[in-house]
Amino acid sequence: MNQPELGVVLNGVTGRMGYRQHLLRSVLAIREQGGVALPDGSRVRLVPVLAGRNAAKLAEMAARHGVDRWTTDVDTALSDPGTHIYFDAQLTSAREPWVRKAIAAGKHVYAEKPLAESLPDALELAGLAHEAGICHGVVHDKLFLPGLRKLRRLIDGGVFGRILSVRGEFGYWVFEGDWQSAQRPSWNYRAADGGGIVLDMFCHWSYLLENLFGRVTAVTAKAATHIPRRWDEAGEPYAATADDAAYGIFELESGTIAQVNSSWCTRVFRDELVEFQVDGTEASAVAGLRRCRVQHRSATPKPVWNPDLPVTESFRDQWAEVPDNGEFDNGFKAQWEEFVRDVAAKRQHRYDFFAAARGLQLAEAGLASSAEGRRVELKRL
Ligand SMILES: NC(=O)c1ccc[n+]([C@@H]2O[C@H](COP(=O)([O-])OP(=O)(O)OC[C@H]3O[C@@H](n4cnc5c(N)ncnc54)[C@H](O)[C@@H]3O)[C@@H](O)[C@H]2O)c1
Repeated sequence: MNQPELGVVLNGVTGRMGYRQHLLRSVLAIREQGGVALPDGSRVRLVPVLAGRNAAKLAEMAARHGVDRWTTDVDTALSDPGTHIYFDAQLTSAREPWVRKAIAAGKHVYAEKPLAESLPDALELAGLAHEAGICHGVVHDKLFLPGLRKLRRLIDGGVFGRILSVRGEFGYWVFEGDWQSAQRPSWNYRAADGGGIVLDMFCHWSYLLENLFGRVTAVTAKAATHIPRRWDEAGEPYAATADDAAYGIFELESGTIAQVNSSWCTRVFRDELVEFQVDGTEASAVAGLRRCRVQHRSATPKPVWNPDLPVTESFRDQWAEVPDNGEFDNGFKAQWEEFVRDVAAKRQHRYDFFAAARGLQLAEAGLASSAEGRRVELKRL
């Protein structure tokens, strides 16, 4: 029986995200399970083409995973009628020209965030993609995390009453690279190479806040470069010119106030690398990557401030675990499957380039707020 196939060019597949999350955990896992199931019961197979700059690495990776095709000639791969989807997980500064070419070639485009390095570029790409009538999407992985899906369930269940505030903590210590190697690529810490935690993380906070609590209408932020000197992959010292921590207050159109700290210069005293506490009139919840805990007003303790007495209750034990009630697949894979279903159904992907542009709008507004020391309102795009 002939199974429909979609050719997917994966550019930047040798990178951290391109390899681990998109090739291994998504595209190859989908191949392993026999394709993406469509609503009519049929399946569509993905045929990957590994693309990048380093032939030796691509050839080795293709052989290791039994992938037939790889190329360093992305232009030719884009002109191939067998290519249906262009995916980009290159470093951020390399993305925009290739996305533009893929749109011009009439391919559907799925990309890592941020879509581009500036709001005008992202808006232009969104306009071009819209006019071309292709399916366009940008990674919104955090929404697919088990902890945040359980939080979504609480919101949909009306558990919170009126949501007053959200407090997010994201981060961990990224080693400078001298006496212990850094666990993130060095371009992240160079502004000229598209680095910086505001550009990296505010895109995530934009779609996360918008989809769970309401669109961001204003931001007040302070970005900092706490560690000005780091060591690169070759062990050479370099000037870290990009921000490595950002402290932000986000006002949402729902009236909720969100505060999110993002930092690569903090040591973790949390249960997970990202956690959000949501406080509502009826209940509060704390959600991380995997876990979500809730406390209803009927089960809320009544502590009394008294520094003369030791703490007599264990506050953490007073929260109830939200059950999984099902299996959560890898979030990147779940979004890949959704994107492929949208391509097959010839409809738009809900997390599109316009959402990506709003992410860049928030990043730019955050940087402007920090540089100018003021609150910045976001125009509705
Ligand atoms: N969704 C997420 O949670 C998440 C997490 C981390 C990174 N990202 C995004 O994924 C993208 C890739 O990040 P990464 O951490 O995998 O980076 P990485 O440095 O590990 O990989 C970068 C990839 O781009 C390629 N590349 C193309 N042109 C290059 C050039 N001129 N210099 C260096 N490399 C070049 C590299 O060969 C490599 O394949 C970034 O846009 C980043 O913002 C997303």
